[in-house]
Amino acid sequence: MSAQKPERRRTAPDILARKGGEPIVSLTAYSAALAPFVDPLVDFILVGDSLGMVEHAMESTLSVSLDLMIAHGRAVVRSTAQSLIVVDMPFGSYEASKEDAFRAAARLMAETGCGAVKLEGGVPMAETIAFIAARGIPVMAHVGLTPQAVNALGGFKSQGHDAAAREKILADAVAVSQAGAFAVVVEGVVAPLAEEITRAVAIPTIGIGASSACDGQILVLNDMLGLTPRVPKFVKRYGAIGEAVASAVAAYAEEVRERSFPGEAQTYKPRG
Ligand code: KIV
Repeated sequence: MSAQKPERRRTAPDILARKGGEPIVSLTAYSAALAPFVDPLVDFILVGDSLGMVEHAMESTLSVSLDLMIAHGRAVVRSTAQSLIVVDMPFGSYEASKEDAFRAAARLMAETGCGAVKLEGGVPMAETIAFIAARGIPVMAHVGLTPQAVNALGGFKSQGHDAAAREKILADAVAVSQAGAFAVVVEGVVAPLAEEITRAVAIPTIGIGASSACDGQILVLNDMLGLTPRVPKFVKRYGAIGEAVASAVAAYAEEVRERSFPGEAQTYKPRG
């Protein structure tokens, strides 16, 4: 994050201008409860479709709908003021045609007030990215481990283990950069490949499980806060919020059971 607080919300061009400069700080967030704590401390917030797994207990991101992304995107935009808000395009909303993709992206922009959308895929999505970006919608791309392709990839596994796979991921990153994406998430690749991609493309690379060679980093908020039981190996836990919630609930439960709970009519104050 740049040290100075912005007077206005950050934009996609602000993020693009950070290529090769001060590292870009980003996290996912999905709710009006947590996004305001993240907002002043990061450059952009991604309302990721990972919300299907970490907020809705889905097995993968494949069942996330456009309406669900809009509901969460709206909550995050309303409860923040400084970061660029990027909303993920869910599986099935953009792959069939560039026109479908534009319509879905336009709904995300119009109905949430977000500043950009993100979609997964490299070379096969380049034409779609160019089409959407040329019509005024900033697009962030996502290459390497692309969770919406979990079935084709054979699981949530790191990518780029042989020369052909590395060539393909590099070509994907170059294609999305040339197509007009303003940044690209690089997920689950080894450090030398992340470094090569970062050197090769004209846009900021945002790493997740891709080493510190990238222009910026992103993590799933619930993972780094300790709100999810299982996290990928590369994730460092910076908080123990799950434990904090459990101990607060235990304290409350004990007071209720011992009939020492302090809430009564005289002390009750309405919210707001
Ligand atoms: O959906 C998501 O949270 C993402 C990040 C992991 C980059 O795409």
